[in-house]
Amino acid sequence: MSAPEEHNPLLDGLRIKRRPDPCALVIFGASGDLTQKKLIPAIYSLAYRGLLPASFAVIGAARTEETDDEFRERMRAAVVDHARDPFKQEVWDELAPGLRYSTLDFSDDTAQDRLAAILEEVDRERGTQGNRVFYFAVPPSAIGTLIDEIAERRTGQGWTRLIIEKPFGHDLASAKELNARITANFHEDEIFRIDHYLGKETVQNMLALRFANGIFEPIWNRQFIDHVQITVAESIGIEARAGYYEQAGAIRDIFQNHLLQLVAITAMEPPIDFTAESVRNEKVKVLKALHTPGPKHVVRGQYGRGFVEGEEVVAYREEEGVAPGSMTESFVAAKLYVDNWRWADTPFYVRMGKRLARRETTIAIQFKRAPHPPFEDGAAEGLRPNVLLIHVQPNEGVSLAIGAKVPGQGMTIRTVHMDFLYGGAFREGIPDAYERLILDAMLGDATLFTRSDETEEQWALVDAIVAFWQRDRPSFPNYAAGTWGPAAADDLLHRDGRSWRRH
Ligand code: BG6
Repeated sequence: MSAPEEHNPLLDGLRIKRRPDPCALVIFGASGDLTQKKLIPAIYSLAYRGLLPASFAVIGAARTEETDDEFRERMRAAVVDHARDPFKQEVWDELAPGLRYSTLDFSDDTAQDRLAAILEEVDRERGTQGNRVFYFAVPPSAIGTLIDEIAERRTGQGWTRLIIEKPFGHDLASAKELNARITANFHEDEIFRIDHYLGKETVQNMLALRFANGIFEPIWNRQFIDHVQITVAESIGIEARAGYYEQAGAIRDIFQNHLLQLVAITAMEPPIDFTAESVRNEKVKVLKALHTPGPKHVVRGQYGRGFVEGEEVVAYREEEGVAPGSMTESFVAAKLYVDNWRWADTPFYVRMGKRLARRETTIAIQFKRAPHPPFEDGAAEGLRPNVLLIHVQPNEGVSLAIGAKVPGQGMTIRTVHMDFLYGGAFREGIPDAYERLILDAMLGDATLFTRSDETEEQWALVDAIVAFWQRDRPSFPNYAAGTWGPAAADDLLHRDGRSWRRH
């Protein structure tokens, strides 16, 4: 019997009642941006709050030659630059000795042996007990071989979990192939396909909003909702990721995963409980019910030169590493339908893109107008229909637009907002999505990760869209950087007598 764990006051009031088991986290792709900007800062923040396992180690693995000390130094700088918490020497001093590095050519057998030896060493020295989390921050083509090697070296001791970054494959066929390869050796509950949007507080709050409040459920359907608008707008360009982005485009980078997951969370039925299976069963039903939009209902765009937040920026085709005649899209808008009883005939207008006017992710639930306003003509002229607006980021919160009487003798009605802002309501800062997700994987909780059937449904829709895109060549660029996308995206709604939410 193991000794009872010491009481950790930091866990009081938190969802987790225990720290994760001792374990070693191996990051494949440790020289990449994600490790520096997200993973290590998230691990530091977990350490800062005392949420890491009592015995813990991180092994960075990548092709670049690096010593343990060089890796530690680079990660220290990453924490200073990117962690949400201030740098504290004593936190770092606890974490740093557990950081190791292994130079690894992914297809080299002996390198895999070296990694296995390091893992045995940290088991002995740091007490990680043979428990392993492997984080794959590498392109999908590199994952298969690595997973086979891990399976081959698996001993009976401890548990193994795999966290797999997006993109999970490149299309339905490759995703299926990858799923088959992984599940040949690992069980679904050992596989954690990450979609970091699910780790965002505000996305989880959508579940709280819908299922912890009695007032929304009766009106959360086609009878009361006119339509839904989901926007994932970024002001940044493709940064230094042309190699990846040229292959992916907006449809694979964000539409296939983050955006469709937001649709699923908005449209899903209440799960019977909050377990991984129940939540994912409901989400996958929405994804299955998504009607493939026709070509007229999907708009793609690519940015030209323009001004973003006051700065002049180059066109997509002028970005470093992008082909001058590139046909890769940096914007997608679509009108989607969820074909079920709750949502039949209720459009979900979605749009997402890079180099848009500003960074903003929102889910807007637009309700139908009041059936018969009994006021004099003109009294409610400027009144807009009720909108429940979920600010996923930034300015995290929820806002409800309602009509209110303007003070004075007459009866004039105007739209006002009831706001809930995280910053005002809670003292705690908002954790980064990766903190939540890395911790969940170490705890073995897959609720906020995508299941194989979800990924495949998402790809099926994307494949259908990409197939009809191959038939024509739009004239790119078709929107200026710093705007809200091509005119055709506006037309998509105007044709239905609607428009995108005003900014
Ligand atoms: C990633 C995409 O998954 O999400 C990036 O690959 C994008 O292109 C990023 O910039 C956006 O994430 P966030 O959390 O900043 O909205």
